[in-house]
Amino acid sequence: MLFPWTCQTEIGLPRLCRGESVANPQTMSPNVKSDFVPQPGSELASESDSACDDTRLSPRLSSRLSTRFARIRNDTENLCARLDPEDCVAQSMPDASPAKWHLAHTAWFFETFVLNKYLSNYTAFHPAYGYLFNSYYNGAGERHQRSARGHLTRPTLAEVHDYRRHVDDQLQALIGDDRLGKRPEIERVVEIGLQHEQQHQELILTDIKHLFAQNVILPAYRSALPSCAESAAPLGWVDVPEGVHSIGHAGEAFSYDNERPRHRVFLEGCQIADRLISNSEYREFIAAGGYRRPELWLDAGWTTIQREGWQKPLYWRGGPDGYTEFTLAGERELFDAEPVSHVSFIEADAFARWAGARLPTEAEWEVACGARAVEGNFADSQRFHPTAANARDDEASRQFYGDLWEWTSSSYSAYPGYRPDAGTLGEYNGKFMCDQWVLRGGSCASTREHLRPSYRNFFHAPDRWQFTGIRLAKESP
Ligand SMILES: [Fe+2]
Repeated sequence: MLFPWTCQTEIGLPRLCRGESVANPQTMSPNVKSDFVPQPGSELASESDSACDDTRLSPRLSSRLSTRFARIRNDTENLCARLDPEDCVAQSMPDASPAKWHLAHTAWFFETFVLNKYLSNYTAFHPAYGYLFNSYYNGAGERHQRSARGHLTRPTLAEVHDYRRHVDDQLQALIGDDRLGKRPEIERVVEIGLQHEQQHQELILTDIKHLFAQNVILPAYRSALPSCAESAAPLGWVDVPEGVHSIGHAGEAFSYDNERPRHRVFLEGCQIADRLISNSEYREFIAAGGYRRPELWLDAGWTTIQREGWQKPLYWRGGPDGYTEFTLAGERELFDAEPVSHVSFIEADAFARWAGARLPTEAEWEVACGARAVEGNFADSQRFHPTAANARDDEASRQFYGDLWEWTSSSYSAYPGYRPDAGTLGEYNGKFMCDQWVLRGGSCASTREHLRPSYRNFFHAPDRWQFTGIRLAKESP
């Protein structure tokens, strides 16, 4: 029987047959391909055209990319260093992946989209890894079933770390090669890989939280969090003026293809809440029969909560006489002032209807906070839990960034003039523009430098294992 990885024939992938020897990391040297030709009309081609032959990558830029690459790759390993090997193998549900798989997949990304493409005669580290660690790229060949990632006891965690070291060594050598100066597209793809790595850092945290929550031992990923004695600041409103506004990414700094192009939108004008909804406010919704009143729910939402038996957010335990909450610091008292987290789009929508408000559109959200500093409670603090909005009059207290991803009422779709990245990387974002909802702002599991005003996250309406919360909007008075 031929295994799916035995003969990969897709353009840009190495032809590998079972039995071929695995590359020895010690003996390989980077050998930059000289025959790469960007596709006409592609973004890579246009970047190349504009930056081309007389713009070599300076040693300073090469050094900066090398340092950044090492730091971000190391961040991933540091996140997993708190885990035992057994923690890294299990998979709690089809949407979540084992930490070991995340470690391997992020290496696969660089191997597939950089090393395979830009190093001539590159031989894959292992002939099966392309099959095991491809996530969803049809253009990269067949892949292991997503829901069965937890079945992969092999390769071992140590072997996955060997894989990462191999890829890191090859990437660093490639970045340091002065011929890279003629290939600004390599820098672009490496940057996509680093942004991708940071997305998976967040997924490692959310997936570990979901995994640990299944265990009656209730393991803790981090040390105990301090209690939250403060009260949430009174809910206020920020005006979003009527008129034509511009949203989306502009400029030379990195963005994903789904954030472009910047374009105009007309807003009727509205008000948007100046903080996230708190646990106590969500508890009022439950006490008012929120999960028992069909008039509050979209049909898909009502069907889901009936089928799943939902009566509270994902990680709340107990009942109205004494809720607790599972966190990455273990089980903990539910504090009134902290924002309600791990709610789905359909729960956020029902809450907003009960509150006499609605969710903001993504355009309203971006206009409301697009000029604000990207400040807040991010993974950088290693708290990994949202904080209460307090009465301080600073940007972090508004919670636009960090703490929790905020559901919007906007379905995830292409901006006018959208063009996906060229080639197989074009599958990164564009093909998911169906039946998902946009979230904005990042969370306490996101890295701060990964966020920007135009950043668009997206999940399905019932999803709630991510760090998700609620910000309200309403029409202008
Ligand atoms: Fe990925």
